[in-house]
Amino acid sequence: MPLVTTKEMFEKSMKEHFAIGAFNVNNMEIIQGIVDAAAEENSPVILQASSGAIKYARIPYLKKMVEAALEEHNIPVALHLDHGPDFETAKMCIDNGFTSVMIDGSKYNFEENVALTKKVVEYAHARGVVVEAEIGKLAGVEDDVNVAAEDAIYTNPKEAEEFVRQTGCDSLAIAIGTSHGAYKFKGEAKLRFDILQQIKERIPNTPIVLHGASTVIPELVELCNNNGGNIPGAKGVPDEMLHEASQKGVSKINVDTDLRLAMTGAIRKVFTESSSEFDPRKYLTPARELIKQTVQHKIRDVFGSSNKA
Ligand code: G3H
Ligand code: 13P
Ligand code: ZN
Repeated sequence: MPLVTTKEMFEKSMKEHFAIGAFNVNNMEIIQGIVDAAAEENSPVILQASSGAIKYARIPYLKKMVEAALEEHNIPVALHLDHGPDFETAKMCIDNGFTSVMIDGSKYNFEENVALTKKVVEYAHARGVVVEAEIGKLAGVEDDVNVAAEDAIYTNPKEAEEFVRQTGCDSLAIAIGTSHGAYKFKGEAKLRFDILQQIKERIPNTPIVLHGASTVIPELVELCNNNGGNIPGAKGVPDEMLHEASQKGVSKINVDTDLRLAMTGAIRKVFTESSSEFDPRKYLTPARELIKQTVQHKIRDVFGSSNKA
C-alpha cells in the first residue's frame, strides 16, 4: 500500500472514537519496531519526523526506510513532519513525498500563526498533502500557577474555532495540560477534558491532536535507572487519561519520550549485563523489540486502533 494522508484514518477515528498513534522516528530500528507493532495489530499508524530527526537521519534515508516498511506491511501509514518550524521546512518535506506536515506557529501571536499556517495550507493542499497546525502553549503546568495564568496556557476554544476557519488546516494540536519530555507534572497528572469538550463542540469535524502524550511508562524509567540511568521524578500522562482522550475526540496521540526510554533502557540493560558486548546487533535487537512491545501496548490497550486499518 502506498503512503496515505491522515484524512481517512482521522475520519474513521472521529466516527468510531479511537485515536491513532503518531510515533517519532529517527532510525531504522525505531521505524521497524513501530511498523511491526502496527502491522501485528492491523492498525493505521503515523510515522513522524521532527526537523531534528531529519537533520540526524537525512531525508533520503527516512524516505527509503519508510518505503521499505510499506513493502513489508499492508497497513495505512502516513509520513508526517512533526513541529515544522517554518514554511521552508514544510515545503521541503512536501516536495520530498511526506503526506502530512505540521506547521507549528504556536510561538507566534494569533495573526502571525494564521498567516504562516495559511501559507503552508495553500502549498500543501495544492499537492494533496494535509496540514496540522497548533494553537495554545504546550508548557508544563506548575503547581503554583494561579488559575488566570493557567487558563492563558490552554487553548482557547473560541480562538481554536476562529483559527481553523481562517486557516483551513486539516487537524489541530491543542494544549489541555500535556507537555513534551519526561517531566510533565509536578503533582497529580491533570488534563482539561472540559476544554477538549468545548473545542469539540465548536469544531466537531476537525481532528484534534495531543502532543506531549507519552505515559513516561514507570517500568521503562525503572529499567533505565536500574541500569546506570539517572532519570529521577519522571512523570507522564497515565494510560487511563489517554484512553479517555481517545474516546472523547482526540484523533492523533504523539509519542516520542516512551520510545526513547524503551530504546535506552533496553540498550543499558545489555551493557549492564555484559560489559564486554560490542556487537551493535546484540543491543539494537532488544531495543527494537522493546519499542515494538511499547507501541503494541499503546495501540491495543490505550488508543483502541487495533483492527482499524
Ligand atoms: O515534540 C518533539 C519530539 O519529541 C521530537 O523531539 O525535536 O528532539 O526530535 P526532537
Ligand atoms: P512526548 O515527549 O510526550 O513523547 O511527546 C512527543 C510529541 O509531542 C512529539 O511531537
Ligand atoms: Zn510535539
